[in-house]
Amino acid sequence: MENKINDILAKAKSLLPNAKTKGEVAAISADITGPNGSLTALMKIIPTLEKSQRPAAGKMINMAKSQIEPLITQAYARIENEQMAQALGESPDITLPNIDAPMGTLHPLTLTIRKICDIFKKAGFTVAEATDLETEWFCFDALNTPADHPARDAQDTLFMPRQTVAANVTKHADELYLLRSHTSSVQIRAMLKEGAPIKILAPGRAFRRDTVDATHSANFHQIECLYIDKDVRLTDLKAALVYLFKSLFGESAKTRLRPSFFPFTEPSFEVDFMSANLGKLSNKWIEIMGCGMVDPNVLKNVGLDPDVYSGYAFGLGVERVAMLVHSIDDIRHFYTNDVRFLRQFSGR
Ligand code: DAH
Repeated sequence: MENKINDILAKAKSLLPNAKTKGEVAAISADITGPNGSLTALMKIIPTLEKSQRPAAGKMINMAKSQIEPLITQAYARIENEQMAQALGESPDITLPNIDAPMGTLHPLTLTIRKICDIFKKAGFTVAEATDLETEWFCFDALNTPADHPARDAQDTLFMPRQTVAANVTKHADELYLLRSHTSSVQIRAMLKEGAPIKILAPGRAFRRDTVDATHSANFHQIECLYIDKDVRLTDLKAALVYLFKSLFGESAKTRLRPSFFPFTEPSFEVDFMSANLGKLSNKWIEIMGCGMVDPNVLKNVGLDPDVYSGYAFGLGVERVAMLVHSIDDIRHFYTNDVRFLRQFSGR
């Protein structure tokens, strides 16, 4: 009995680590521990043995079994790993998701942009985008801001050497290129592409020569809104703003317009809002953005007849809204990628 058991053990130890397929492992294990296997056959002999020998024989068989079973499991696992490695090629597939990796979250600025876009999507607006790199004509001239206009001073930005940009980026290829100082340039691109009527929201980055401090960044985000159609009036603009601020800050939010000046709108306004649930800033007028009725010159610059079409536009600072909504005291938090800050907006 003992010799037979040792033979079976030796066979298992030599065959199982060399099996090539799961089928081979199954055949070897059936040969040993299956209903017609060699070890099973020995177990069947036990009742025929002398009573005094039975316990020792049973014990030996069980010991053998407990050594053979892990060998079978290991053989299956080894073959599975080999097959997986083969399917992946020589090296592991590093694009596979790591099941242990902590989940990232959306950036608070992305969340704010999405929230505002969702609010306006409900009113039939679509999202338009354009490149951060823009020409002087799209960023200023077409927006009724000629080269000698003082409004350009407040929007100084990085100008690019002409040669660095491919001539086919714009039809105004002989223009100076710059990092756009506001998203208002998307108004021009969208109107040239789609004509009128048009209802768009254009979120994106803007760049300015600004000294960085708690409320200024040389690189920030805006959302531009443009609505052009026949018979669009100032009351439509006011209604859109009331809708926006009630959606953002609740039904108690109030909105007011103060006369202002932008070259691309006439009349132009600063928008203030007031909300009952803004902590220390509750129930105080807060200046939030610029808006107005699109200047007839802007419509003419994109080939639209100002006697037929009219419209409104506004430009909203995304950081400013996010800072107000979440009581964030320093704009630099948005750009330092500190997960302790970012994690707070995960909603998890
Ligand atoms: N582009 C302006 C800025 O960055 C903001 C702005 C004001 C946009 C009035 C508009 C507008 O569309 O109508 O300062």
